[in-house]
Amino acid sequence: MNLPVYLDYNATTPVAPEVADAIIPYLREHFGNPGSAHVFGQRAKLAVAQARAQVAALIQASAAEIVFTGSATEANNLALLGVARALGRPGHLIISAVEHPAVMAPARRLEEAGWAVTVVPVDDCGRVAPQAVGKALRPDTSLVSIMHANNEIGTIQPVAEIAAMVKAHGALMHTDAAQSAGKVPLDVAALGVDLLTLAGHKFYATKGIGALYVRTGTPLAPVLAGAEQERGLRPGTENVPAIVGLGEAARLARERLPEAEPRLKTLRDRLHEKLLEVIPGLLLNGHPEQRLPNTLHLSFPGVAGRELLDRCASDVAASLGSACHDYEDAVSGVLAAMGQDAARAMGAVRLSVGWMTSEEEIDRAAAALTAAYETGRASR
Ligand SMILES: Cc1ncc(COP(=O)(O)O)c(C=O)c1O
Repeated sequence: MNLPVYLDYNATTPVAPEVADAIIPYLREHFGNPGSAHVFGQRAKLAVAQARAQVAALIQASAAEIVFTGSATEANNLALLGVARALGRPGHLIISAVEHPAVMAPARRLEEAGWAVTVVPVDDCGRVAPQAVGKALRPDTSLVSIMHANNEIGTIQPVAEIAAMVKAHGALMHTDAAQSAGKVPLDVAALGVDLLTLAGHKFYATKGIGALYVRTGTPLAPVLAGAEQERGLRPGTENVPAIVGLGEAARLARERLPEAEPRLKTLRDRLHEKLLEVIPGLLLNGHPEQRLPNTLHLSFPGVAGRELLDRCASDVAASLGSACHDYEDAVSGVLAAMGQDAARAMGAVRLSVGWMTSEEEIDRAAAALTAAYETGRASR
């Protein structure tokens, strides 16, 4: 069977062959517990240390600042709830209106626990204005969490500018970079953040592995209670194979980024241009430039996005917005926050390319999407 063209890399990526090769020995032979003193344990411990250094190198951090977690969701929870626990009293948190549920939901938890939460708006491109964060800062603001790049529209936030204000105010800055790693360069010092979230399965490692960068000296308490793994910040025996895979994925991403970033952009723009040739009323959602190089979020005029994807499901595998909501037809909260009307939001489709995408696939997907669009329009 001919599989559809995969254009859903923001939902998850395939595991890179190099990553799979790196993992296999840790499934087959090197099964030790990194906490064991014997040779089996030490072998695993060394592999975890190497992966920690590789992940740190991807974001220009030092290895001691990386905490492995079970997912980006867990890293976000550790950042928000862990800072709250370390501070020991309710404070004020600022987030944006387009955060992933993995930030929105822990923020709501903090609110239930007595924190004040301010949600700053975004403009019609999905960008947070640094001044809006500046205006929201209060004397008791202790934490600000603004995502680096949005999972649906790909808009990249001015995190460095925001972090500079937040730090000058004396608060802590977290950014959810689950969608950015491996797609755009990340430098924690240049960004000026204290905490940064990564997700393995968004850059060719496996699912169920993430990491939180914790700048040295950042107040953070564990959310889980247990033993002393990950300096006590994330107790539980390390998932050695997944950690090894994350390290290899970070190494690959760092090596490939200079070539991959422009290549992804070319493929994405080729798809956009081909669709525009046939569908001039097509609208781009997200920032035209400050956007992930692989993400194309479009509103098709006069058709429902769900209907369009169903019509070409044998040729194209893509999502409406975030994978978490793909079976619901509710209007995306991200598009609503950008002030888009219901018709534009209903016609939205997210097309995201990746390392394995070819030009031929782009052309096949463009043909299938335009055909599905034209059939959809004709049947109305
Ligand atoms: C921006 C962002 N943050 C967090 C997550 C959560 O990742 P995971 O489901 O792997 O925990 C995702 C996944 O879609 C994401 O796109």
